[in-house]
Amino acid sequence: MDKKITWQGATQLAPLPVVLVTTADAVRQNVFTVAWTGIVCSTPPMLSISVRKERFSHPMICESREVTVNIPPASLAEEVDRCGVLSGREYNKFTLCHFTPIPGETVKSPVISECPVSLECKVSHILELGSHDLFIAHITAVRVSERLIDEKGRLQLESADLLAYAHGHYHRVADAIGHFGFSVRKKAGPKVRS
Ligand SMILES: Cc1cc2nc3c(=O)[nH]c(=O)nc-3n(C[C@H](O)[C@H](O)[C@H](O)COP(=O)(O)O)c2cc1C
Repeated sequence: MDKKITWQGATQLAPLPVVLVTTADAVRQNVFTVAWTGIVCSTPPMLSISVRKERFSHPMICESREVTVNIPPASLAEEVDRCGVLSGREYNKFTLCHFTPIPGETVKSPVISECPVSLECKVSHILELGSHDLFIAHITAVRVSERLIDEKGRLQLESADLLAYAHGHYHRVADAIGHFGFSVRKKAGPKVRS
């Protein structure tokens, strides 16, 4: 049996996705890094991001009530980190990171061309939790790089070389070791319905 020690409550959840969130207001666009994010509802499709009030992006999100959540590839780890330590107050992070902004289809916040998947979102709820405000948002459009769509129209996300964040470190999400329901599928014989 694995012997356990006990710590007081802390944010020890891992691995996490790490995303580049874009915002826009009437005069500017910004991008910043968020690891406190997740899907919170399937129908309607919704996600959440948690943002500290002191972030330059925070009032922009409150005002526009729109964000685009861009999923970066592992090759952008350095840019992801840079967008998470520098502020839009002092830097144009799009220029600094050589990101190409593409206009949103359902929101004003831009899609980052270099990210394989981007989720355009409209904020529906803002919850003040403590250090962070929780923004809950409807996913109004999914923008996907055409090169990831196979001949049957399916998304081949495993070719996107995605990035994860665990305990202060960036990781490559490389090896697929199973698929949804594979544990109950018979190795041979009739298929189990999912
Ligand atoms: C890996 C990583 C994850 C981060 N996750 C969050 C987060 O979930 N919420 C948040 O408010 N800040 C987070 N940050 C910090 C912001 O991205 C950082 O303060 C950024 O400079 C804010 O940019 P802005 O001032 O241009 O809005 C994270 C930073 C890094 C490096």
